[in-house]
Amino acid sequence: MLSGKNILIGITGGIAAYKICELIRMYKRQNANVRVVCTPNALNFVTKLTLQNLSQNEVGIEEFELEKFKPEHISYADEADIMIIAPATANTISKLANGICDNLLTSIACAFQKPIIIAPAMNCGMWNNKFIQENIEKLKTANYTILDPEDGYLACGYNGTGRLCSLDKIFNKSIELLNREKKLTNKKIIITAGGTIEKIDTVRYISNFSSGKMGIAIADSAYNQGAQPVLITSVKVQKPYKVIQIESATDMQKAVFDELEDSDCVIMAAAVADYRAKNIANYKMKKTSPDGEISIELTQNPDILKEICTKKTNPNQIIVGFCAESEDLIKNAKEKIAKKGCDYLIANDISRKDIGFSSDFNEVTILKKNGEMKALSRATKAEIADKILEEIYG
Ligand code: PMT
Repeated sequence: MLSGKNILIGITGGIAAYKICELIRMYKRQNANVRVVCTPNALNFVTKLTLQNLSQNEVGIEEFELEKFKPEHISYADEADIMIIAPATANTISKLANGICDNLLTSIACAFQKPIIIAPAMNCGMWNNKFIQENIEKLKTANYTILDPEDGYLACGYNGTGRLCSLDKIFNKSIELLNREKKLTNKKIIITAGGTIEKIDTVRYISNFSSGKMGIAIADSAYNQGAQPVLITSVKVQKPYKVIQIESATDMQKAVFDELEDSDCVIMAAAVADYRAKNIANYKMKKTSPDGEISIELTQNPDILKEICTKKTNPNQIIVGFCAESEDLIKNAKEKIAKKGCDYLIANDISRKDIGFSSDFNEVTILKKNGEMKALSRATKAEIADKILEEIYG
């Protein structure tokens, strides 16, 4: 089942490390190539010799080995199709969430561009610690797959949440992520994200509270599934796929049309400003108004989504819009999908503080051109992104 697949297992210093010996065997039985990397503390619980024999590969511990041509963390990260960190201690979780790379395992994880599964295991007090939970949330929003620990009797003598989840759960999730990889291979998907920036003068602009998180989560998910995303955004991000940095709606319109021709799908998650200043002052405007009031004349921006729908470059191209509403969500979304002419419309309620603009979470209803609807309950934007792509591509 896994022949040709490269599985990288990261083991950190927790008692559940001994269970990972069996996990290595599960992958080996399916003909996977398994490489193991350990934190130095992991070797207090399992021996290098055991891991080496089970994986039939050298075990990585030290980051800098003089005889190696390529830095170790880069070669491990390049080779593997998936990384599984199990058990993940509170210490390693916190390092990963904060970009700390002080050993081989954390350096590999930081450089890794493919799916990472984290299976935490620790004392229940540590698991419930505010900072650990914050760090877990950070990792979720950065697209790590977290397999929560389970309740039960813990090696430290406590009863509570902290036991490593079952090995079957880790194994099955990794298979799911590895298979997901292939689904969107060769698909070029354009995704817009973030609010547009409409200048008034050289130092001021009109914009909105869109953080770009929703669109970026979709681009990440598409990339993880093998697609070639093109992210067009006002947000400054660095990604392993193509990112086109824009400011205004007209910049976005140009970038979208430049990329449109050979694309398979366009997903407009950006909050595009409907209006821009008619004239942009090429100096900093002065506070000279005698009555304390000024007027800025606005002119309408192009409706990019509507325009693409009328200019599909092939009949199979899929166009997806978003719909941000603060009242009558479904009624307005139904009107909008008809007006814009897109294949799908993702409706979200922006009046709620716990989802939508700037939040790490969303709750949406997917409307299809044929009138069908599907509600997705509140989840991280990464999870919502996966489900939107699943709805589109099955
Ligand atoms: O970025 P986040 O903080 O993660 O927040 C995500 C989000 C709430 C911004 C996102 O989920 C969302 O709802 N995006 C669409 C916001 C919006 O502009 O909605 P709208 O109903 O005004 O526009 C409908 C659709 O037309 C959108 O796909 C929009 O990109 C597009 N549009 C709008 C105006 C315009 N001039 N051109 C367009 O293409």
